[in-house]
Amino acid sequence: MTDIDSLRAELEGQSPRAILKAALNRYDNIAISFSGAEDVVLIEMAHKLTDKLQVFTLDTGRLHRETYEFVEKVRNHYGIEIEVLFPDAAEVQDLVNRKGLFSFYEDGHSECCGIRKVNPLKRKLATVDAWITGQRKDQSPGTRNDVPVVQEDTAFSTGDKPLVKFNPLANWTSQEVWDYIRMSEAPYNALHEKGFVSIGCQPCTRPVLPGQHEREGRWWWEEATKKECGLHAGNLIAKD
Ligand code: ADX
Ligand code: SF4
Repeated sequence: MTDIDSLRAELEGQSPRAILKAALNRYDNIAISFSGAEDVVLIEMAHKLTDKLQVFTLDTGRLHRETYEFVEKVRNHYGIEIEVLFPDAAEVQDLVNRKGLFSFYEDGHSECCGIRKVNPLKRKLATVDAWITGQRKDQSPGTRNDVPVVQEDTAFSTGDKPLVKFNPLANWTSQEVWDYIRMSEAPYNALHEKGFVSIGCQPCTRPVLPGQHEREGRWWWEEATKKECGLHAGNLIAKD
C-alpha cells in the first residue's frame, strides 16, 4: 500500500472539512483550484483552517460576466488573494486564426480546452506539491463515479515529483453543497439564479431544465462519456 493509498483509506469516510484540514496540515505548498462556481464551499471551509490559503482560477477568456464578477466578490468577501491564470497568447491566437472562435462546436472541445485550461493548469501544477478540487461523484455519472477523496495525480505529475490531488467534496451531493452554501451564507455565482447548475465557459455552458442532469448543460453537443475537459484527465484514463 502506498502512502497515498493509506491516506485515502484514512480519509475516505471523513467530512470535507476534515479532509481539507488533513490536506492543509500535510502540505505547505498546496492550492485550491477554484472554478468560480459552487466550489466556493472549499474556500469557505479552508479560509478558517489556514491564513496561508493559495487559490487560483483559470481564466479561459471565455467566461461569463457573472463568473468574473463572482471571482471578485469571493476575493473581497474572504479577503484572500486569487491568482488568475491565463492561456498563452500565441497559442490562443494560432487556434483562433486557424479555426475561428467557435471551432469547438465543429470538432470538439479538447483542442480549445487544452490551450485555454489544461496548459495553464499544467504550468501552475508544476509549482505545487498538491492541489485541491471541487470534483464530486454526483457531478458526472459517466466519468466521476469513482472520484476518490485523495489520489496521486498521474496526469499532471512532472518528472520524479509526485503530485497529489485532493477532492474533499467527492462524496457530497449537490444538495449537501447547496445546504452548506446557504447555512454559511457564502456568496454564490449569480448564474445559479438563472437556471445554471454546472458552470464552465460561456459558449459551452447552458442552463438545464427541471429533471435534467447538471452535466447536460456542459458541451451538450458531445457524448456524456467525453464531458471532461482535461483538467481531470485521470477520470477518463481510469475508465479505459
Ligand atoms: S470541468 O473539468 O468540467 O471544467 P467542473 O466545472 O466540473 O470541471 O469543476 C470541477 C472542479 O475543477 C472545480 O471544482 C475546480 O476545482 C476545477 N475547475 C474547473 N474549472 C476551473 C477553472 N476555470 N479554474 C480553476 N479550477 C477549475
Ligand atoms: Fe474552449 Fe469551451 Fe473549453 Fe472553454 S469550455 S476552453 S470555450 S472549448
